[in-house]
Amino acid sequence: MKVFFCIAVAVLFSENINGLLLPGKEFGRIKNPASAFSHSFTRARRLPRPTHRVIDPTEDCFLVTSEEGELFFKSPSDEPTVCGIYMITDPDKRIQVTFNYIDVPCENGGLVAWVDGWELNGQVWPADAWDDDRVVESCDRRPARKLISRQNAALIQYRVPARGKGFSVTIRHFRNARPCNVMLFGSEGVYTLRNHGETGNCSVIAVSPAIVRVLDLNVGQSLRRNLLDMETGTIHRCMKRGLSDYVDIGGASGLDHTNMEILDSICGLDSTEGRRPAFIACEDTVVRLVSSGRYLNSVTLAFAPLPLDEIEHADLLCGLETL
Ligand SMILES: *[C@@H]1O[C@H](CO)[C@@H](O)[C@H](O)[C@H]1NC(C)=O
Repeated sequence: MKVFFCIAVAVLFSENINGLLLPGKEFGRIKNPASAFSHSFTRARRLPRPTHRVIDPTEDCFLVTSEEGELFFKSPSDEPTVCGIYMITDPDKRIQVTFNYIDVPCENGGLVAWVDGWELNGQVWPADAWDDDRVVESCDRRPARKLISRQNAALIQYRVPARGKGFSVTIRHFRNARPCNVMLFGSEGVYTLRNHGETGNCSVIAVSPAIVRVLDLNVGQSLRRNLLDMETGTIHRCMKRGLSDYVDIGGASGLDHTNMEILDSICGLDSTEGRRPAFIACEDTVVRLVSSGRYLNSVTLAFAPLPLDEIEHADLLCGLETL
């Protein structure tokens, strides 16, 4: 049952990815509109056109998009259907949403909500950094404050039970100098998690089963300004050994990675490639970096899709205790 569900999610995401390609090279923070315009003009052939898309109520209730541009929604009926625009961008970017207009009567539960994160099946991401500021609800007027996500994924949820009513938003992507929580688009790619010397947890989540390989590890070793360190190799079960800084590798049944099941928790200084990868057969694959703030930590990870025929040989199969 569980396995079937995670496959369905994986297929759903890969289908969306084909239609919604990530934009090409980004062109820096937009400081003033005129220079941004000329800059993008010179590179116009390499950039996707700004999109103007009308949401098709029958097809796009669960819409995943990695594009910038303008989206329009007009309700086809008086039904109180809840739908979502799931926005995602590159790991080192943030998402800004501007409501151009909201014409949604508040009667009968009409609502448009900005969510600084993702919500799926009652679970939110990133759950461990959640607070009330992450949700802004409105109906008959535009939100007063600026809406910019803290990480590379955000969501607009809406329910417009009034035929002909709707809203329009413009989505923009901006650079994020210090990404902490990161959602991977699909289950492919190389990503480096860092704590920038700070205390707390940062994580990468792939919304699918995945193969995770650690390409480079420097966790719980390098003190500030220390340039030369001895290779310790990879140390396993670091959390059980009582070490303060470590990387948890595992998965979760749903977006809430605070409940993740942990295959191993590793630390040390190891720059040798070619360790055995971890096969994670969970709805979501999660790597979490836990930092005390005493070290400059970084871990570089390669994610690849987990082939269906490898699921039975997986190192971690989530939700086994409920089967
Ligand atoms: C970070 O993760 C650890 C689990 O390894 C947890 O005990 C701790 O509460 C988390 N910290 C925060 C700030 O969420």
